[in-house]
Amino acid sequence: MQLVTVAKKSELPILDVVVVPFFQGKDKAEPACSVTDFDKETLLPVSLGDFKGKEGESLLLYRSGKEKRVLLLGLGKKKGCTADQMRRAYGSAVRHLRAKKILKISVIMPEVGLACPIFEGIKLANYRYDQLKKQTLKESHLPLEKVAMGPVSQKEAKELEEAEIVLKAVDLARDLVNGNADSINARALTLLAEELSSKFKAVKTHILDKPKLEKAKLGFILAVNKGAAMDPALVVMEYQGNPSSKEKTAFVGKGITYDTGGLNLKPTGSMETMKCDMAGSAAVLGIIQAAAELKLKCNLIGVLAIAENAIGPLSYKPGDVIVGHAGKTVEVNNTDAEGRLVLSDALSYVQEEYEPTRIIDLATLTGGIVIALGEDAAGLFSNDEALAKEIQAAAERTHERVWRMPLFPEHKEMLKSQIADLKNSGGKKASSSTGAMFLQEFIKDVPWAHLDIAGTAYLSDPKGYHPTLATGFGVRLLIDLLKKM
Ligand code: BES
Ligand code: MN
Ligand code: ZN
Repeated sequence: MQLVTVAKKSELPILDVVVVPFFQGKDKAEPACSVTDFDKETLLPVSLGDFKGKEGESLLLYRSGKEKRVLLLGLGKKKGCTADQMRRAYGSAVRHLRAKKILKISVIMPEVGLACPIFEGIKLANYRYDQLKKQTLKESHLPLEKVAMGPVSQKEAKELEEAEIVLKAVDLARDLVNGNADSINARALTLLAEELSSKFKAVKTHILDKPKLEKAKLGFILAVNKGAAMDPALVVMEYQGNPSSKEKTAFVGKGITYDTGGLNLKPTGSMETMKCDMAGSAAVLGIIQAAAELKLKCNLIGVLAIAENAIGPLSYKPGDVIVGHAGKTVEVNNTDAEGRLVLSDALSYVQEEYEPTRIIDLATLTGGIVIALGEDAAGLFSNDEALAKEIQAAAERTHERVWRMPLFPEHKEMLKSQIADLKNSGGKKASSSTGAMFLQEFIKDVPWAHLDIAGTAYLSDPKGYHPTLATGFGVRLLIDLLKKM
């Protein structure tokens, strides 16, 4: 999708449709931009009160003259109007227009500004994943080809260019999560990380393949992957955007390319969506790509902990005691609690080898967080108030919402094992907190936050400006965090 911005409304090109915004008034819609260019006829639905301007309400009108189609778009209430209200309203306009096979749109900006959220709503809703569709299905709901927006100030135009880069990274993460588990495997993810380092000078990629994982004693990743046909990998991407600073943020992503549960096999109904279990890694790849392309002034380490939790004669077993990179022993009382194993190896490794000054991990870690928060917020667990607050502020701005969850000493008690230093599952009770507590056991003295994205990364149905199941959750959130540093 091509984006064109113009400084004046009069410079907007004549395309397939012009989108005209309205707020919801008392009994009639109120124009959100000047509508003096439009004749009475076109505005009749407004003056008659048939078009109310409710959020997402849209009315497509046809007329003779230069612009043959006009879309009246409702933005909802003006008072207390939010950025996400704009994302939702314009996202719904895109849904409407795509259903009508309209491909090129001119958007008159509302006078309240908010160009970035408007563009985000458009671009997020314009995504489609058709790599697995047959030709016949491909012809419906084509994505928009061109969007012209105006009037847009120079400052806004610059922000829109940056937003475009971030949204491209969101779509990368969505593609990876939507793809088949056997295509988006350790090899594919490794290749993508290597591509990033050939594209951007500031990115260096290091791969730990199976022999290197063995040498560095990442025993948890190796154990989880034992039943799989493909080797596991730990991918480290180093981005240097501010060499004079000692500040270094590590992003660590869970990269289980498929989670059958292992010998503690998942039942029908719980396994079908488990290609999404590498959504944390997909987000980390997106973050590194966007940061490098935006040339952000910060230093980052992106880590992908990649394995497949498969079932077979070689699978690791309930009852096994395994040793990981940190040297701690873990009794595997549930092979389905595999995410915390691969992550803790990655966390331990990145602390030892790269000494980050703060760490954020992203993981589709527990079903419990879906029960607690649904698909509308990720669980946020942290050992550091300042970092937690920064993430919460970024969540407000991007509407990639988070909700702080507890880490109590009791949660650590629940991970006590008779025969090892820890066990990997604390059972059903407070399962998101015990999962997070397991990770914290591998965090030394450094600010750390864990985002449990099991509910937000992959929706059960398309929703709002997310037209497919994968959302790319975490990319917009954490790039926003980095920009505000
Ligand atoms: N990948 C799952 C968590 C998950 C559930 C992600 C639903 C996305 C949607 C994770 O590996 C898992 O199986 N967690 C178990 C942990 C339990 C065995 C302690 C869970 O939450 O049931
Ligand atoms: Mn699992
Ligand atoms: Zn999992």
